[in-house]
Amino acid sequence: MARVVIVSNRVPLPSKGAKAGGLTVALKDVFKQGALWLGWSGELAAETATSAKIHATGKLDFATIDLSEQDYRRFYVGFANSVLWPLLHFQPGLLEFDREDFEGYLSVNRAYAKALAELLRPDDLIWVHDYHLIPLAEALRALGVKNRIGFFLHVPFVPASVFSILPSAEWLLRMMLAYDVVGFQARQHLHDFEDCLRNFLNIARQSGEPIWFEGRPVIVDTFPIGIDSRAFARQAKKAAGSIAGHRLFESIAGRSFMIGVDRLDYSKGLPNRFEAFGYLLDRFPEHRMHVTYLQIAARSREDVTEYQRLKHELDRLSGEINGRYADFDWQPLRYMTRAVSRANLAGFHRQARVGLVTPLRDGMNLVAKEYVAAQDPEDPGVLVLSRLAGAAEDLTEAIIINPYDPEEITEAMHAALIMPLDERKDRHEKLFEKICRTTAASYCRDFLNALAGTATSTGMPT
Ligand code: G6P
Repeated sequence: MARVVIVSNRVPLPSKGAKAGGLTVALKDVFKQGALWLGWSGELAAETATSAKIHATGKLDFATIDLSEQDYRRFYVGFANSVLWPLLHFQPGLLEFDREDFEGYLSVNRAYAKALAELLRPDDLIWVHDYHLIPLAEALRALGVKNRIGFFLHVPFVPASVFSILPSAEWLLRMMLAYDVVGFQARQHLHDFEDCLRNFLNIARQSGEPIWFEGRPVIVDTFPIGIDSRAFARQAKKAAGSIAGHRLFESIAGRSFMIGVDRLDYSKGLPNRFEAFGYLLDRFPEHRMHVTYLQIAARSREDVTEYQRLKHELDRLSGEINGRYADFDWQPLRYMTRAVSRANLAGFHRQARVGLVTPLRDGMNLVAKEYVAAQDPEDPGVLVLSRLAGAAEDLTEAIIINPYDPEEITEAMHAALIMPLDERKDRHEKLFEKICRTTAASYCRDFLNALAGTATSTGMPT
């Protein structure tokens, strides 16, 4: 069996106490058969390294490189998170293009390629993750690497009319086609990518067929990411009885409980969600004193100006809502910017009557799936889900809302809070079945089969 080599910007180094995030959890099965994972160490150094440090942990080895301060600013803060991230989340107004950042993006990708090329075995399957590393395949090929290389985009894609805003748009598309497999979370993203291919490169894709680009086939498909739903359900059941779960339960004091769990990111639609909660208390006075909303908004990308601005806005909005509606013995909105462990989150979700997942755009959004998995099937809560998250393509039994309309979110909050048990059970049963069908394991299996050339649906030789 070929070794799998994963490359991503973040590496969940156990020695750094890294919490298992969505990707780590999703890849769990891959690690069992031995794998190498390369990425940024999270450290800054005088120079960007082009040789990796190896951290062997048994079946899964990590390889990390340090970045120079300048490369961190240009590559990570700059091109990746101030150009590609806002663009791919349909926020072109937030895009801050700078040629030096673009150069930094390229040179860090070349550094990754050099560090990786030294570690490769001839039959390794290379699986590259996310927008930070789009030019990596091309950089590896330039070094003579012949292995099969796949790319999975965790974030959305945009149609040609939006993509054309990006200086170097066509070049970036070509970089994507340097891979053997290009994967997206949702059909809409694939559809938008195809729109770009048609408009920029005059390529029309036949459904189910690979694209032919410069004489090579490129498999382009959706591979929706999932979670290990049954394991998360077990964790949630256990965690609800933990100390943290108990403390939360006590503090809610019999009120209805709503939860939101996000990175503090403008793509998550948090100001609209807060505003919607304010409207709820204003328009539906029966909920005053009777509902508590906990928003965990883990601080993120704090060196990017737009994230600092968002934090100020949320600080202000939460203060305003609590100032206006709180009573001496009731705080309607609990807002915290610290991260919470996955185990505690599982227990918190289980206690929540309503799960709020209302991003303005999102690749998939695994919180939506985790919320569903965590529910007690005998008394489940209700998921309120943005139609603009990849998860909404499948999870249609959630209350689906448009996140740009705070009043629609308010109505959904109200409907969820008063929904009868029968309907809650009915929706939950269908949702749970869906999240058990598309899982972490099926995501890995399907992508790696396509990458190994064993997938038959795309017409590739086996
Ligand atoms: C999103 C991206 C990931 C990224 C994560 C955390 O989920 O798709 O690639 O790792 O956010 O962001 P950060 O900038 O802290 O790595």
